[in-house]
Amino acid sequence: MSRSMISDIVAKKGEQVTVAGWVHARRDMGKIIFIDLRDASGLLQVVFLPSNKEVLAQADKLRPEFAVSLTGTVNERPEKMRNPKLLTGGIELLAISLEILNEAKTPPFEIDKDTMAVNEELRLKYRYLDLRSERMHRNVVLRDKVTAYLRNWLHDRKFIEIETPLLTKGTPEGSREYIVPSRLHQGKFYVLPQSPQQFKQLLMVAGMERYFQIARCFRDEDQRGDRQPEFTQLDLEMSFVTQEDVLRLCEQMMIDLVKAVAPEKKIAQTPFPRFTYKEAVEKFGSDKPDVRADKNDHNELGFSWVVDFPMFEKSSEGEGLQAAHHPFCMPHPEDISMLDSDPLKVRAWSYDLVLNGYELSSGSIRIHQRELQNKIFKLLGLDDASIQERFGHMLEAFEYGAPPHGGLAPGIDRLVMILANEPNIREVITFPKTGDARDPLMGAPSDLPRSQLAEAHIDIRQ
Ligand code: AMO
Repeated sequence: MSRSMISDIVAKKGEQVTVAGWVHARRDMGKIIFIDLRDASGLLQVVFLPSNKEVLAQADKLRPEFAVSLTGTVNERPEKMRNPKLLTGGIELLAISLEILNEAKTPPFEIDKDTMAVNEELRLKYRYLDLRSERMHRNVVLRDKVTAYLRNWLHDRKFIEIETPLLTKGTPEGSREYIVPSRLHQGKFYVLPQSPQQFKQLLMVAGMERYFQIARCFRDEDQRGDRQPEFTQLDLEMSFVTQEDVLRLCEQMMIDLVKAVAPEKKIAQTPFPRFTYKEAVEKFGSDKPDVRADKNDHNELGFSWVVDFPMFEKSSEGEGLQAAHHPFCMPHPEDISMLDSDPLKVRAWSYDLVLNGYELSSGSIRIHQRELQNKIFKLLGLDDASIQERFGHMLEAFEYGAPPHGGLAPGIDRLVMILANEPNIREVITFPKTGDARDPLMGAPSDLPRSQLAEAHIDIRQ
């Protein structure tokens, strides 16, 4: 008999079905044994009665997390035994036969309970068990719903999804980069992208007009609850648009997304309130204002826009300037005349989407002219040779009819974290890194054999 998913057998009362999954919990009630069977779709109560001695004896061997296959009859539960909280709370399976597919050792922590209080190192080492728990499973499913919804939403609006390289050259987003040594080119390195920023702009030059990507990004920075060394952005870019076009599109996308995947949530204010950077800092003392009316209400979502960020800030390493967002942002046209005289006063056409006090997304209208881009690099203290070496390809591309363009990149991990009411993004990433950037499950980072290092022209200094 072909296997049914647990969620589907609610509609099969009176029928004989075969289900498969894991023993979630087992309860011995004298002569009767109950188990809760779990599969990816839910939980099901299974009953083993003494009238079927053979199967009862088999059931006696069951322990939590055994993988099993079961055939039985779907019965309505007696009135008093119904559990309205469960999708399958009105039914149970009366076992006819049982096959143990694989036994399980006693798990290092209890999976039928919330694992939040369990030591995180242990959870990450046994992530495949942690992910069996209900909350973690729900988070993975929610994340899939979010990305699937966003993909469809953007496809419906004529965006195309395009993959960009992971082995590439540095793009300045303000963090340290992960580097990959080249075997074929001794002493040279690829860099993992901090974001697809340059590629998406080049795709606009390439005439794609509306691009998006569920993009993996890499940043070698200190970890926090809302930061991981690798994370995911919904990266998007559009040609021939104004800042208003980008904000409107993203705002509608968020409103529609919440309605579709988290209908229990209510958005505090629509249209999303907008603050200039200056206003936000004056009013909230932060460029990440939390605009919720009740900050303890899990179901309230406080979106806001912060616009008109400064183009530059004082360099963290001394006298000069650094880009407040990244060097590709278009300076505000009203302020361009101050670029030489008073660059710190120049605003950029850049914007952040803030949610519940977290920076959910940054974005900007980009520079699309060579002259202006070159000037910005110079103001950032780069000389002609390093501009050419690092960004010559961008400047050259701008000389071939580069269209005006702009975009943004909401962080998927932060978005799902907030929709799932989780306190940090590790709870919504299947295989995250620890605070010191390790993966306790795979054991990464790890040593490599000398021969492999030699091929990559690497010598380890003791
Ligand atoms: P930015 O660097 O602001 O902009 O990143 C955009 C969004 O990505 C998420 N994010 C992170 N999430 C988890 N861990 C991290 N270490 C991390 N770093 C960033 C945040 C953030 O708001 N290329 C530009 C976007 C653009 O201009 O279009 C960029 O990457 O949610």
